[in-house]
Formats: sequence, C-alpha cells, structure tokens
Amino acid sequence: MSDENTVPDEIPEAGAAGDDSIQAVYKILRDTMPVMAIEHEMMTGTTVALQDDVMTVLQNPDVFSSLGAAEIGQIRPLIPLEIDPPEHSKYRKLLDPLFAPRRVAELEGSTRSLVNTLIDRVIESGEANFHHAIAEPLPSQVFLTMFGLDVGRTPEFIELKDGIIRPPVDNPAAATEYRNETGRRIYAVLAEAIEEKKQSRTDDFISQFLDAEVDGHRLTEEDVQDIGYLFFLAGLDTVTASLDCMLAYLAQHPEQRQRLVDRPDDIPAAVEELLRWESPVAGVVRVATQDTELSGCPIKAGETVSVNIGSANTDERFWAEADSVDFDREINKHIAFGGGVHRCLGSHLARMELRVCLEEWHKRVPSYELKPGTVPEYTVGLRSVDNLELIWET
Ligand code: HEM
Repeated sequence: MSDENTVPDEIPEAGAAGDDSIQAVYKILRDTMPVMAIEHEMMTGTTVALQDDVMTVLQNPDVFSSLGAAEIGQIRPLIPLEIDPPEHSKYRKLLDPLFAPRRVAELEGSTRSLVNTLIDRVIESGEANFHHAIAEPLPSQVFLTMFGLDVGRTPEFIELKDGIIRPPVDNPAAATEYRNETGRRIYAVLAEAIEEKKQSRTDDFISQFLDAEVDGHRLTEEDVQDIGYLFFLAGLDTVTASLDCMLAYLAQHPEQRQRLVDRPDDIPAAVEELLRWESPVAGVVRVATQDTELSGCPIKAGETVSVNIGSANTDERFWAEADSVDFDREINKHIAFGGGVHRCLGSHLARMELRVCLEEWHKRVPSYELKPGTVPEYTVGLRSVDNLELIWET
C-alpha cells in the first residue's frame, strides 16, 4: 500500500482539464497506488481502485459493512443502504417489487410530460444552463410525483438535498452542523407527508410503503421515514449528475450526439456506456468489520474503505478497449449502480428517467454544443456539472 497521504504532483485535478481527465486520474491510481491510504479532513482510511478489489469489497458485506459508512445528516441508519445482511434482505424483498420494471413503466408517461414541460421553458431562447433547467428539476419532480407530493415544492426539495450534499459552508464542522439541521427539516417533511397519507391513502409510494407486507413483516412509520430520507438523497442528485455528465459528453462529441438523433433506438445502449465511462456516483464507502487485506495490503478492523467505482469501470485489466466510449459495446457489466447486495434499488427508475430525457431532448434540440468560452466543471465524488451552458439553433 502506498503510505503517501497525498496524491502525487503529476495527477491532474479531477475534472479540471476536460471531459476525460477523471479517467486519466483513475488510470494513474490503478497503475501507481491501487490501494492507497488517505488522511484528509473529509476522510481517513483506504481507497481501492482495481476492479477486483472493488468487487471483493462490494460482494463481502460481512467483512465490509455499510453501517455508519455514510454521514448525511441521518439520525438512524438509512434503509436499506446502511443495513447489513441478513436483515437487509427483509427490506429489499419488500421494496424491490415497488421498483420493478413494470412499476417503473407506469411512471414513464408522466416523466415524459415533465421533461417536455422543462424543455418548453427554454427551447425558444436557444441557450440554457442544462443543469439548472433540466437535470436538477427533473428527478425532484419525479420524486415529488412518486411520493404524492406537490410538484410546486421542487425549489424547496432542491434546496434540502443541496443542504445535505453540498452544504454552503467552508469547514467540516460547520458542514456537519448544516447537514444535521437540513436532515431535521427532511425528517419533518417526511413525517408530515406520512401523517397525511395515513389519513387518506392514494396510489403514491408513501401509501405503498405503509401497506407493504412480506412474510408478515410491515414497515413502521420510522422505517418509512428512513427509506424516504435515503430516496431523497439517492434518487435526486444521482440522476442530475448522470444527466449533466451525459449532456456534457455529447455536447463535445457531435458524431455520437448525431447518432442518437438519427437512431434513438441506440439511446439505451448509450445510457449504459456513458454510465460506465462517467460513473456519476464515483465511489461508495464501507467499514471493515475485521482485520483483512486487499491486493496483499493490510486493512484493519474499523478502517474506512472507499471503493472507486469510476476506476473499476475503466480498469483495462477487466475491460476490452476500456478508454473507448463505444455505444456498440456488446457486454457492458458496469457497476455504476454498485454491486453486491446494496446494488441500486432505483436502477430501473434511473434508467427510465435518463432514457426518456435523452429521447425527448434529442428529438426537440437535435443540434447543441457547449456555449463558447465555457468549460464544464465537474464536482468531486458525485460528478455533477453545475455550469453546463448549452447553445442551439432555434
Ligand atoms: C443514475 C442514477 C443512479 C446511480 C448512478 C445510482 C447509484 C447507486 C449506487 C452506486 C448504489 C450503491 C451504494 C452502496 O453500495 O453503498 C446505489 C444504491 C441505492 N440507490 Fe441508487 N443510483 C441512481 C439512482 C437511484 C434512484 C433514482 C433511486 C430511487 C429513487 C435510487 C435508490 C437507491 C437505493 C435505495 C440504494 C440502496 C440500496 C441498498 O442498500 O440495498 N438510486 N445507487
């Protein structure tokens, strides 16, 4: 294991040099520090970059636990993200059917209308910040629709999730306090919504969570809050970041953009390949439950292990033509949605949102590019592009 605490000078700052720089950083990590100790005010522990090690961590939840891995203002473990097996499967059995492809298909029509309403607002102007105009409101509105809440609350919801993911303060202690305060507000919103649905059930997700039953087990109201809290964070920024990364890439690769305009049936394959290449959720975290090792490097019980999904998805030891963004890739077993028991519960929903958004956008805005003079700036960890300024002909 490298015992350096900082990355070496030659590693470029992630995202600073254009759309492929993060993949270059991953490659340097794999080649020089595949298992690396980190001591940083934000995180102390070990980070792993090779596909093999990443899968070892994700597929062994008894050795690498999810409990306590995420600090996002929660007061109880997030369900099911921070629940280890065997209890974890009890929740997944209950939740998986609600997010199955058949259920997600029922949301496609309303999602398509939401996308078109958002496009209507900007199409005549010939330019927009895609992040603010489309990528950010879309998943919030899908979430509000699913949870039977007023879509007019979108700005409030965006502010709440930003308060957790990007608290507007500049030191770790203040960030923790800000997250905790925002967390209290999210629990209050969820408690109010649950109370409302208890009075009168509709066909929304909160009502379904309250009624769901497997093997005689039902969710308590606290369980429903803990699931809602996770969805709030897992379902909003991830789709926003994915849309940002995809549009930033396509705006800079006109041949591949044109292919999606000419052959919209290729969009699902493009979504998969761009999820692999961009890995918008760049990593996830676990805590070692016992002394162990990864690639021969010792890991101590209690140590935090950060799993580099983006690096695993571009590891040339595993992928043929790893650096080629190929919409014709025949086998694409990427782990952009994670792996093992905690693999993303919302993957079908996410795929539907991404596909529908790319379909409608390319139908109505077939030719677009980055606004001259702008360079996409990717955030670290969750790769969103807040300054994604696009222009097109009207
Ligand atoms: C493109 C968008 C998305 C990406 C890239 C993504 C990625 C991920 C990843 C990497 C994990 C694994 C976390 C871990 O192992 O610690 C995960 C878990 C999860 N995701 Fe997603 N996600 C996306 C969208 C969504 C959506 C839309 C929802 C729901 C509304 C959702 C709900 C969840 C839940 C509940 C878990 C925890 C599953 C468990 O612990 O069993 N995600 N996601």
